[in-house]
Amino acid sequence: SSEVQVVGPADRVVALAGDDVILPCSLKPSVSAEDMAVEWTRLNLKTRNVHLYRQGRDSNEDQSPSYRRRTSMFHEELKNGNVSLKLTRVTLSDAGSYRCFLPTLNSQVKETTVQLIVGAVSQPVISIDGIKGWGVVLKCESGGWFPEPEMEWLDSSGTILPADGPPERHRDSEGRYAVRRHVTVNQTDTNRFTCRVHQPEINHLKETYIHVPGVVFIG
Ligand SMILES: *[C@@H]1O[C@H](CO)[C@@H](O)[C@H](O)[C@H]1NC(C)=O
Repeated sequence: SSEVQVVGPADRVVALAGDDVILPCSLKPSVSAEDMAVEWTRLNLKTRNVHLYRQGRDSNEDQSPSYRRRTSMFHEELKNGNVSLKLTRVTLSDAGSYRCFLPTLNSQVKETTVQLIVGAVSQPVISIDGIKGWGVVLKCESGGWFPEPEMEWLDSSGTILPADGPPERHRDSEGRYAVRRHVTVNQTDTNRFTCRVHQPEINHLKETYIHVPGVVFIG
C-alpha cells in the first residue's frame, strides 16, 4: 500500500548529557507536513508536552517547563515530511520514550515512538596510593558517569590486571555514578599502567595511564 506512514528511527537514539540531539520522525512516502498538526510528547510521564506544532506554527503554551527554550522543529523540512525534533542541552532526566503523533494525518499509522538514552562520561584520574611489599598500590577514580560503568586496570600490553577488589561505587545527588578501583602492581619493563572506564550501553570508553617511576618500587 502507498498509504503515508509516520516512521521513526530504526534504533534507540543515544546522547551524552549536554549534547544537542535530533529525535527523527518523518512521513513515508514523503508528503508535506506543513499543514498538519505534530505533537511531540513524553510517554508514561505527567509532564507530557514536549513540542506542539499546529496551524502552521509552533504552539507551546502548554509545554512542560523542563523543555522550555530547548525544542525546535526544522520548519524548512516540513514540506519534505520531516517532522524531527531538535532537543538542545540534553539532561539525564530527558531519557525515555517520546511519541511523535500526527493526529490530522489521514492514515492508519499516525504515530511512532523514539527511545532516547542519555549517558554521562568523565576522564578517570590515577594516583599512587601507597606501597605494599615490593608492589605499588594505584588508585583510579572517575565520577559523573551514567549509566554505571565498568572499570579495569591494564598493563602496557593491554592485558587486564587482577585488581585489589571489585570496583567501589557511589551515586551523587543527580544519580550519576562515581567508581574507584585499586590495583597493586610490580615493576615491569615499562612501568606503565592504564585505567579503562567503559559503558557499553552508550558505547563510550575513557582511559588514563600512569608511568610509575622505577624509584617508587624500590621505596
Ligand atoms: C530532518 O532534517 C534535519 C535538518 O536538516 C536533518 O538533520 C535530519 O536528518 C532530517 N531527518 C530525516 C528523518 O530526514
